[in-house]
Amino acid sequence: MSSKMLVTTALPYANGDIHIGHILEHIQADIWCRFHRMQGIDCRFFCADDTHGTPIMVSAQAQNITPEQLIAKSYDNHYRDLTGFLVEYDNYYTTNSEENKQLIYEIYEALKNKNHIETKTIQQAYCEHDKMFLPDRFVKGTCPKCGAKEQFGDACEVCSHTYSTAELKDSYCTLCKNPPTQKQSEHLFFKLGDFQDFLKAWVKDHTQSEISNKLNEWLDQDLKSWDISRDKPYFGFEIPGYKEKYFYVWVDAPVGYMASTLNWCNKNDQNFADWWKNKDTKIYHFIGKDIVYFHTLFWPAMLEASGFNTPEKVFVHGFVKVNGEKMSKSKGTFINAKTFLNHLSPEYLRYYYASKLSLNVDDLDLNLNDFMSRVNSELVGKITNLASRGAQMLGKRLDGIVVPLKSKEAKELVQMAQSKSEIIAKAYTDLNFHKALTEIRTIADEANKYFDQKQPWNLIKEDPESTKEVLSAIINVFRIITIYLKPVLPSYALQVEKLFNDKPYTWDDTKHLLENKKINEYTHLMGRIDKKAIDAMIEEEKSQTKEKPKKTENFIEIDDFLKVDLRVGLVEIVEPVEGADKLLKLIIDLGPMGKKQVFAGIKSNYSEETLKGKLVATVVNLKPRKMKFGVSEAMVLAGSGKKGGPRVLLPDGELKPGDKIK
Ligand code: 2FM
Ligand code: ZN
Repeated sequence: MSSKMLVTTALPYANGDIHIGHILEHIQADIWCRFHRMQGIDCRFFCADDTHGTPIMVSAQAQNITPEQLIAKSYDNHYRDLTGFLVEYDNYYTTNSEENKQLIYEIYEALKNKNHIETKTIQQAYCEHDKMFLPDRFVKGTCPKCGAKEQFGDACEVCSHTYSTAELKDSYCTLCKNPPTQKQSEHLFFKLGDFQDFLKAWVKDHTQSEISNKLNEWLDQDLKSWDISRDKPYFGFEIPGYKEKYFYVWVDAPVGYMASTLNWCNKNDQNFADWWKNKDTKIYHFIGKDIVYFHTLFWPAMLEASGFNTPEKVFVHGFVKVNGEKMSKSKGTFINAKTFLNHLSPEYLRYYYASKLSLNVDDLDLNLNDFMSRVNSELVGKITNLASRGAQMLGKRLDGIVVPLKSKEAKELVQMAQSKSEIIAKAYTDLNFHKALTEIRTIADEANKYFDQKQPWNLIKEDPESTKEVLSAIINVFRIITIYLKPVLPSYALQVEKLFNDKPYTWDDTKHLLENKKINEYTHLMGRIDKKAIDAMIEEEKSQTKEKPKKTENFIEIDDFLKVDLRVGLVEIVEPVEGADKLLKLIIDLGPMGKKQVFAGIKSNYSEETLKGKLVATVVNLKPRKMKFGVSEAMVLAGSGKKGGPRVLLPDGELKPGDKIK
């Protein structure tokens, strides 16, 4: 292992809350860092908020605040929630910083000077109303392949077909609902193809095999240049030498890892080059499986080209599911980090995630029943119970002094716990926390067996000295278990350090035992999870979802509605239309407004007899539409009636032709 390690987690976007899906990655990286620090390694952990791009700019506009105000608010909430889960960063910074600007300019200059940047004119969706180019996610329409409606501008979620916004049918801008135009503009591109050979070699040794196999499918084809510029209006860093062109958010986001380091270096008298240019320092990124390309293609190529260290490893994890389902607000399976912390201890989740984490890319299911029962039976029932039974009896019924172990049995038990140090350390190093915790639990099982066999609650009556030894063995095993668990349960470990008057534990502290030492009075270390707390958490989450108005973009103003002139009409004439199976020609009497001809697609349910003489709801101010069979001058309202076809809305017989419907 090298002398220095630099660890990062993906930078959360500044326009959303931290949820328990984000928390998985930060806990995973935090456990790893804490473990290495316990081994005496100079391991530093950096993160930041990801603050640039169109969604943040648009979100600020919608809230009537500046992007700077939005990201400041977000920063405080993110930092509160992440550290609420006991994640300990050396620095948590922001990408909207001078350090980040300085570093991206330096990297860009290097790429330009080495001729890795090219310009091309491209065509993009543009909204004339909002006066901006529209990212793919801001355009919706009908999939040109399968006809699915409401699909985003890049790919269809129904048939997985990918396309450009120009190919999408009936497309519209998601901000204003107007159809976009296509507009040309010059963009800057990073020539990723220049790094094809470098990347092919790099991915093999620096990513998990599942990931490198996937990447090889890409690397076997020619890599396309990457569009790194965006036109104004955009919230980000302006590209030097261009007016009103900005770096795409994904260009300066990973540079945020460096900027967070630089900001920390400046404040802590450290040399930035020691961290990003010294080959003895190893860089590790923890990310989710959705952002692999950015971290394993563009990012190492940018670093390689500009003379910085490339990552030693990019560790990819799967997504968090709740009760087997993708997190979803409507299904009640979405859990915000803050909501969790309002009801439950962060260490419960740290333990549960750790018990399931290894170095594979599978999704991780937070099954709330399993979560409760594992925490209660393992962490409280098996592990904490050792301390509560052992330390309480020693302190309350005896003199509270841990004695040296003499019997073979007691010694063997403690030696067994000590002997697991290497195997558990290897499991942590390999990011196989599942294995580390399984090993730790087997130690607890043995200790519980010993405790139950010795029955100290009976033994104490006749042989207090032997009882002291039994309890001392239990307390020592518990202390060793706590040291092994410290990366996962830092606050728990701190309480145990206090209980035994110990200094902060390092990994090697398992090598010596507590002997001839008085322990402090036992205070409660960790309680069981009460099902009521989980229910209350879910309830709180649900009530928050309810309070928020659903998709405000679907609302129209009252004035928009008032533009529609809706009247009661009397069907006077009903006729079939030759050559049109679904249509009926209607003459509608609108009282004082006269009569109008309407072609209505309702023939599947209505005949002359069933419709003639009926009152119908009619839109009378529609622009007349010329059809093959004649002009349609109004529209009759009908419910879509999926099974038997459309059902005409029939106003109450008290109404008369021409009455306004409001
Ligand atoms: O996917 C995301 O949430 C991004 N904000 C992650 C950025 S990671 C890094 F590259 F900055
Ligand atoms: Zn628009």
